[in-house]
Amino acid sequence: MGEQRNFRVWRGDDNGGQLEDFQVEVNDGEVVLDIIHRLQATQAPDLAVRWNCKAGKCGSCSMEINGKPRLGCMTRMSTFAPEETVTVTPLRTFPVIRDLVTDVSFNYQKARELPAFAPPADVAPGEYRMQQIDVERSQEFRKCIECFLCQNVCHVIRDHEDNKQAFSGPRFFIRAAELDMHPLDTRTDRKDAAVEEQGIGYCNITKCCTEVCPEHIKITDNAIIPMKERAVDRRYDPIAWLGSKIFRR
Ligand code: SF4
Ligand code: F3S
Ligand code: FES
Repeated sequence: MGEQRNFRVWRGDDNGGQLEDFQVEVNDGEVVLDIIHRLQATQAPDLAVRWNCKAGKCGSCSMEINGKPRLGCMTRMSTFAPEETVTVTPLRTFPVIRDLVTDVSFNYQKARELPAFAPPADVAPGEYRMQQIDVERSQEFRKCIECFLCQNVCHVIRDHEDNKQAFSGPRFFIRAAELDMHPLDTRTDRKDAAVEEQGIGYCNITKCCTEVCPEHIKITDNAIIPMKERAVDRRYDPIAWLGSKIFRR
């Protein structure tokens, strides 16, 4: 038998809602998602939450826990003091569907806008060959689980609804950087597109995205800053610009 703890959960839908208080059993080793499941089983059967793997790998259980963007399945209850009330709210940047479930389709829209991987036309899938060093270069970015915690926390999206149109956000800057580093990608305009189409210039390097990434991807240092620098280099260096137009990979 565990101990009784105070838990507070936002309940509602797109018309509004409120925080509801619960007293709930917590056992050794449990995570926030376990407690939400216990509430569903005992006190709030209609409490909506999105989850899938319970192993920090599917990116579904993103929520705000005591105001911080976190994965519910990777946040241990032991990180809170026993007398502390743990407050769980939906991601603030995206529209609420119900309770802890938000509509993250903004991110899928941004994914669709990003030009796809463009391998050479004369190399068939299965014939792609890459050096190990090139595989490793972008491996960090491929760890992304699309939890969208970085998108949720970035103030450019979070605080300015108007920016959503012009700014694709940190998750898609790492995708652009990954493709830009890919030796088989034939597009030479990914850095320019990051500026002109993805709005990377709006990012003022606050690094909040890097701080919340559960995969510890160095989003700002390893993707955003290099993409910004190289974009600037190319735009203001006429030789590099000309070269990029003539010597296409
Ligand atoms: Fe989540 Fe990190 Fe991917 Fe952003 S970059 S979606 S925080 S895993
Ligand atoms: Fe946003 Fe990350 Fe830049 S939080 S402002 S994309 S450094
Ligand atoms: Fe899959 Fe939490 S349930 S990341």
